[in-house]
Amino acid sequence: MATTTAEREQWGSRIGFVLAAAGSAIGLGNIWRFPYVTAENGGGAFVVVYLACILLICLPYLFAELALGRNSQKNPVGAITAIKKGTPWTLVGGLCVLTGVFILSYYGVVAGWALGYIFKAFVAPGVESSTYFASFVADPWTVIPLAALFMLITISVVYGGVEQGIERWAKVLMPILLVLMLVVIFRSVTLPGSGAGLEFYLNPDFSKIDGEVLLAALGQAFFSLSLGMGAMITYGSYLPKRENLLVSGGYVALFDTTIALMAGLMIFPALFAMGRDPGAGGPALIFEVLPEVFATMPLGSFISAVFFVLLSIAALTSMVSLLEVVVSYFVDETTWSRAKSVWLVGGFTFLMGLPSALAQGGSTYLTEGVSLFGVTGFFSIMDYIWGNVSLALGALLISIFAGWVWGTGNAMEELQQGSGDFFTGTTARIWSIFLKYICPLVIAIIFVGKVMREI
Ligand code: TRP
Repeated sequence: MATTTAEREQWGSRIGFVLAAAGSAIGLGNIWRFPYVTAENGGGAFVVVYLACILLICLPYLFAELALGRNSQKNPVGAITAIKKGTPWTLVGGLCVLTGVFILSYYGVVAGWALGYIFKAFVAPGVESSTYFASFVADPWTVIPLAALFMLITISVVYGGVEQGIERWAKVLMPILLVLMLVVIFRSVTLPGSGAGLEFYLNPDFSKIDGEVLLAALGQAFFSLSLGMGAMITYGSYLPKRENLLVSGGYVALFDTTIALMAGLMIFPALFAMGRDPGAGGPALIFEVLPEVFATMPLGSFISAVFFVLLSIAALTSMVSLLEVVVSYFVDETTWSRAKSVWLVGGFTFLMGLPSALAQGGSTYLTEGVSLFGVTGFFSIMDYIWGNVSLALGALLISIFAGWVWGTGNAMEELQQGSGDFFTGTTARIWSIFLKYICPLVIAIIFVGKVMREI
């Protein structure tokens, strides 16, 4: 990864980049966030809208972020100023960095929960899982040290460089996660009463789609693919020219979407088999449902521990990418060293995460006393503003920047390098129409519709 020396470091190989970018994309967003957002937004119909967003908006947009990054060899702020110096567009880069800090702040809290749950099956066997979760997350002396520990691990990885440690691990561990998820899916769909869950998840009821659902699906798609705040600009900046951005980006989107859909298959059949109300779970959903599923499996405690180890690692590779964006900004644009940037940003973000850590029962005020835009609780407000609205806004502005200011011609030229004959003629033209018109328009319409309803 980046060093402070003049030579910009690059990924070792294509598979190295695909894994690192997939590692960024695959995380709590797929396994923790996707199921509960799906549940809150009506199930199957949400999934259809989500898939449409991935294919029609996120994929074309992903290529633009990668092209911007590889072309400029810079962080989001640097990439924008390299193309257009001294304009308000720089602020868009600033928004990216800020969004990174805030997503990281509450993401680290949930990562801490996952870390703590590695031991759950051993410390609390047989305890009703929703009761356990409520008291677990409400205890500041549990969640804060766990979040701190997780941040320290993230800091040490970003400090030491991703290539040697994380990339090598991810290669072995992510396939294990996939296999384990298949095992859990098998258990979940064979529980009595699970059919209703499959029905809820896979049979779309299109009457449930409204402006709220559209924004939630769009936001979830950006969040899951790590888009809208320049993470893929930063990761693209470490790519060599011979790399085929389209194929690599396509793989990342495919892996990410597969894991998210599988997470739904783990959760919904079990949820309905347990007779729970899908909309009521919220951020607690997987932490309440999965332990119950593990409890019905042979070697359940062991499987539970392994699962949460793997989930923590998936969260770690995502946290690394969030921190890397902010750190690469400070390394590229200020005189700070990598070490100083990593420690200051990591420490600051941890402190910013404290209110989120206390917002699941630790502090009554932060849990239920605050609300904004119809969202209650500090944690959910942060997730809504930064994990949803801000990503969509960032993507809107970056797609306008790439499509209109930098120009689709330049972007296309960058994408063509390394992609052979694959990206010429009609394919390229269709892509530029998506980037220039469809992406910004659709995002803007969903946005404006939502804001109009708010006021
Ligand atoms: N995509 C990650 C997940 O699904 C989270 C994440 C990492 C992210 N980097 C990001 C989200 C950048 C938005 C922007 O868990």
